[in-house]
Amino acid sequence: MSQTYSPRALRASWDRQQNYLVVGREARFEALVTILKVGTHVHPRILDLGCGTGAFSERILREIPSARIWALDYDPVLLRIARDGLPAPKDRLRWIDADLRSPSWTRSLPRGKWDAIVSTTALHWLEPGPLARVYRSAARLLRPGGLFLNGDHLPFDPPNPQLTRLLRRLRRLRRAREPPRGALNWEEWWAKTRRVAELADEFAERDRRYPHEHADENVQPVSWHLRALRASGFRETTTIWQHFANRVVLAIR
Ligand SMILES: C[S@@+](CC[C@H](N)C(=O)[O-])C[C@H]1O[C@@H](n2cnc3c(N)ncnc32)[C@H](O)[C@@H]1O
Repeated sequence: MSQTYSPRALRASWDRQQNYLVVGREARFEALVTILKVGTHVHPRILDLGCGTGAFSERILREIPSARIWALDYDPVLLRIARDGLPAPKDRLRWIDADLRSPSWTRSLPRGKWDAIVSTTALHWLEPGPLARVYRSAARLLRPGGLFLNGDHLPFDPPNPQLTRLLRRLRRLRRAREPPRGALNWEEWWAKTRRVAELADEFAERDRRYPHEHADENVQPVSWHLRALRASGFRETTTIWQHFANRVVLAIR
């Protein structure tokens, strides 16, 4: 049975799905936006990497009224839902279609330095090589004192065999949970959205761009990220928020 196209409803159901999958997502958003508020100038220029349906960009729009945001993603389905379902003045929010894995992704950006580059639940899709390149690009793109903020699942450092087992058990338990009423899991959300006839072209393009589901196995432990950020030219790096391995890493240019 086909589904009617309601980008607003799809954005809302995406958030229910992500809030269920990423325990602490809301608190993470809160930490991210708080640092942006205190750590950027007025009229900050902010880049949101792997924006999806624009959930975090929307939060910045609402909470930092002078911010201008460029939201970047490579998923044509999520970008279409974002564009159609999150109306905002063009001088405040723009969408960019670019692949962070490509060495030339920065060519899609407007000229000029950025005050902050943010990302949530997205950079773990990248292999270590392309991710380290994104970190280096971010350091070049930010003004001195600019902020790089990554909220994602960043594993504990080895060797921690018992801790690793404990966290694996926690992950298994969380995966076995039923979604709360009204929320879909990842597979259900995609299966349902695929039945929207208006999104057929975007799905064909998505299948070409992302032929496989992303793998989580290549996610490096947190110290790898902090080291890679320092090596990229960031002066200060730390974890500013954490719930188990769900963290927000801050790097200052
Ligand atoms: C789990 S979603 C998170 C979306 C959004 N940040 C949120 O928190 O709701 C991961 C996002 O990263 C994007 N992404 C993954 N690999 C990417 C790449 N190579 N280039 C650009 N975006 C990418 C995906 O398309 C997807 O929108």
